[in-house]
Amino acid sequence: MNPSNSNTYSLFSLFVLLVLSSLVSGQLDYKFYDNSCPNLTKIVRNGVWSAISNDTRMAASLLRLHFHDCFVNGCDGSVLLDDTSSFTGEKNAGPNRNSVRGFEVIDTIKANVEKSCPSTVSCTDILTLAAREAVYLSAGYSYYWIVPLGRRDGTTASQSAANQQIPSPFEPLENITAKFTSKGLTMKDVVVLSGAHTIGFAQCSSFKQRLFNYNSSGQPDPTLESSLLKNLQTTCPDDNSDTNLAPLDPVTTNKFDNVYYKNLVNNSGLLQSDQALMGDSNSSAMVNYYSKYPYLFAQDFGTSMVKMGKISVLTGNDGEIRKNCHVVN
Ligand code: HEM
Ligand SMILES: *[C@@H]1O[C@H](CO)[C@@H](O)[C@H](O)[C@H]1NC(C)=O
Ligand SMILES: *[C@@H]1O[C@H](CO)[C@@H](O)[C@H](O)[C@H]1NC(C)=O
Ligand SMILES: *[C@@H]1O[C@H](CO)[C@@H](O)[C@H](O)[C@H]1NC(C)=O
Ligand SMILES: *[C@@H]1O[C@H](CO)[C@@H](O)[C@H](O)[C@H]1NC(C)=O
Ligand SMILES: *[C@@H]1O[C@H](CO)[C@@H](O)[C@H](O)[C@H]1NC(C)=O
Ligand SMILES: *[C@@H]1O[C@H](CO)[C@@H](O)[C@H](O)[C@H]1NC(C)=O
Repeated sequence: MNPSNSNTYSLFSLFVLLVLSSLVSGQLDYKFYDNSCPNLTKIVRNGVWSAISNDTRMAASLLRLHFHDCFVNGCDGSVLLDDTSSFTGEKNAGPNRNSVRGFEVIDTIKANVEKSCPSTVSCTDILTLAAREAVYLSAGYSYYWIVPLGRRDGTTASQSAANQQIPSPFEPLENITAKFTSKGLTMKDVVVLSGAHTIGFAQCSSFKQRLFNYNSSGQPDPTLESSLLKNLQTTCPDDNSDTNLAPLDPVTTNKFDNVYYKNLVNNSGLLQSDQALMGDSNSSAMVNYYSKYPYLFAQDFGTSMVKMGKISVLTGNDGEIRKNCHVVN
């Protein structure tokens, strides 16, 4: 080989390397199902679209289901597993029981994916894509990120891990941040991903402690804006109203946008853990910033979702491709 050929050759190798590395993200791969299931995105989008057309809230529910999957032993579809004789699963853990939704939507999509490409696509990847589609469709197509794929399904689930690892709305920001950092995320990810609360609903039981006798002071939470407080006191008058719902973003409830941050700036966060983002100088600076720059929130939300979607994933020969998302093969 003469020197100029060898130069061309190494430039070419470098080019190939760059192209390949841009397609592979860690162990996951942006083109993972391109040959084995070319219609995957279309099938997931159709499934999410018809679920949302029937029930707008389902977008929020699918997004949250993905979060609750990833925060318990990584994104492995564990939240989808029913209890068995060998393990107690996550569906009845405190943060999930009578609260997480969307299992039947994932089942319908999985059934359609199986028809097109049997035993090829993990339930975990379907849930990850469904969360992206849910945001994309709720935002009027302005929020989008590319999801690296190739996650495999786990073979166990843990109710106690779900109780310990999913953040609670009643714990202080430092504790929530600690749960995120233990998974390789940062306080910035706490602020950015909390922006998911721009869609969906919470039950009175998740925030009513703010309404009447906050921290036994006999007064409501002073960081709750007074007209929103009055509305919420009407929604949640007493202990018999624990399952009544209030929107996490009362202004643009079903639209994925940056209004969540605008609400926090004017003391209209619903959960104590939402409004707490204004009680720390680092996080409140980020809240102010995202309240002003929707485009930057959109970008950072995608980045943080991709990061969350990589927590302790199973790839290669680990785990399995479940046939039925409810049970291990
Ligand atoms: C930062 C810590 C977080 C806490 C403490 C928290 C807590 C909660 C709580 C208490 C609810 C209402 C549940 C109920 O009353 O039934 C909720 C709803 C929701 N959460 Fe979070 N969450 C957090 C982070 C996240 C993240 C990272 C995401 C997704 C990226 C997310 C997405 C959602 C969505 C979309 C809903 C509405 C679900 C629906 O309407 O079905 N949350 N969250
Ligand atoms: C439509 O949504 C309702 C809840 O709002 C649910 O009970 C029903 O099963 C859904 N129907 C379909 C076909 O998904
Ligand atoms: C993908 O969809 C196209 C048209 O919608 C169809 O012709 C093709 O058979 C599908 N491919 C698979 C693998 O299902
Ligand atoms: C916050 O974390 C600390 C240290 O782990 C713990 O002792 C405390 O009980 C937690 N607070 C709440 C409200 O969960
Ligand atoms: C309880 O809330 C009041 C405001 O309603 C506040 O002034 C006080 O410091 C809080 N006490 C504790 C222990 O957090
Ligand atoms: C809070 O902000 C929202 C949107 O930014 C606005 O619609 C709402 O009226 C504000 N509430 C108060 C009390 O200022
Ligand atoms: C705020 O950020 C600075 C610099 O990143 C850090 O040193 C500090 O601990 C942070 N404060 C909190 C409360 O997280």
